[in-house]
Amino acid sequence: MINIAILGFGNIGSGVAEVIGENQSEIQKVLGDSVHVKYILDIRDIPGVVNDINMIVNDPDVKVICETMGGKEPAYTYTHQALEHGISVCTSNKELVDAYGVELSAIAREHNCSYLFEASVGGGIPLLRTIREAFGHERVSRIAGILNGTCNYILTNMKAGKDFSDALREAQEKGFAERNPAADVEGHDTARKIAILASLVSGKKFSYEQVSCEGITGVTQQDIADAEARGMSIKLLGVYESEGSSIVVAPYLVPSSSPLYGVNDVFNGIMITGNMVDNVMLYGRGAGKRPTASAVVSDVIECLKNQGSNVHTGFADLEPVMSASAPSKPEGSKFRVLGA
Ligand SMILES: NC(=O)c1ccc[n+]([C@@H]2O[C@H](COP(=O)([O-])OP(=O)(O)OC[C@H]3O[C@@H](n4cnc5c(N)ncnc54)[C@H](OP(=O)(O)O)[C@@H]3O)[C@@H](O)[C@H]2O)c1
Repeated sequence: MINIAILGFGNIGSGVAEVIGENQSEIQKVLGDSVHVKYILDIRDIPGVVNDINMIVNDPDVKVICETMGGKEPAYTYTHQALEHGISVCTSNKELVDAYGVELSAIAREHNCSYLFEASVGGGIPLLRTIREAFGHERVSRIAGILNGTCNYILTNMKAGKDFSDALREAQEKGFAERNPAADVEGHDTARKIAILASLVSGKKFSYEQVSCEGITGVTQQDIADAEARGMSIKLLGVYESEGSSIVVAPYLVPSSSPLYGVNDVFNGIMITGNMVDNVMLYGRGAGKRPTASAVVSDVIECLKNQGSNVHTGFADLEPVMSASAPSKPEGSKFRVLGA
């Protein structure tokens, strides 16, 4: 039996416990051992939950920690402590990966453990692992992704006739959007995700601040009708192009010939273009308790299969990118068009 801990018992943290509980026999099959959640740490007073990180990092039985608290602090300090004790950390926290992923990955390597963050981009879609394992030998010229389910849900519903505020309210009522939805609708969540993806494929660290970012608050019903008349859909995309180190988040016109055109509701779709393989499209649930928790558990399994060594993500070696650019909009047009 292998012991792990969960930091932050909210949506995703409780999902991790559920995935491990319900899919224990599948985990045992792939790992040859069972996984047991020995500690749950949370700020709230829940029976059986601990509040002191030292109890966890000083327990030699704990082999992996799942950080599902979110935010920079205390997630950064706790992750740092865990890695320095040689305990691998798996996270869903894109904010932390964007801000400190390089440093934490280097600490993990130094201490022969791993820092993995599959769940931080694309929720349940096995996106980072695919990029790491299947695209390592490719020259990736472009990644274009619908990376925020809330925005996609709103735009899909606007296409069906709802106005922005009704569609947003519905997303909030269904639990897709945050109570404060600014990070979603203003594009910042997508910016963090495309910056992580660009960093993985380019070998340079793009930070969230370098992303030219425009959200969907300015998209009108008329824009959507105009796009439809031209056989296109408006989608909030994060787009990285290797040429000119270009990185942007903005509403794009997506032609019906693109596989991203048919990605609707809360679903995410990510198209990766390699110089040999051409276009590869990944599709699935980009958020939500169980899909995201499943991605965290996939990282736990990878860490445990590589106990005592470091899973190389490439993040530890990234140098900051000096300057990033953004493609300009066509003259007189409110939106860029996604090319083939
Ligand atoms: N929800 C999704 O679909 C999704 C998808 C992909 C990635 N993520 C990422 O996953 C992370 C967690 O998201 P979530 O939706 O699970 O959030 P959440 O439901 O708010 O869960 C976070 C948990 O951590 C606890 N916590 C906060 N500060 C703490 C502290 N100082 N010490 C101990 N516990 C603390 C919170 O307690 P309180 O409630 O008392 O504050 C809460 O129980 C975030 O980084 C998010 O961006 C979420």
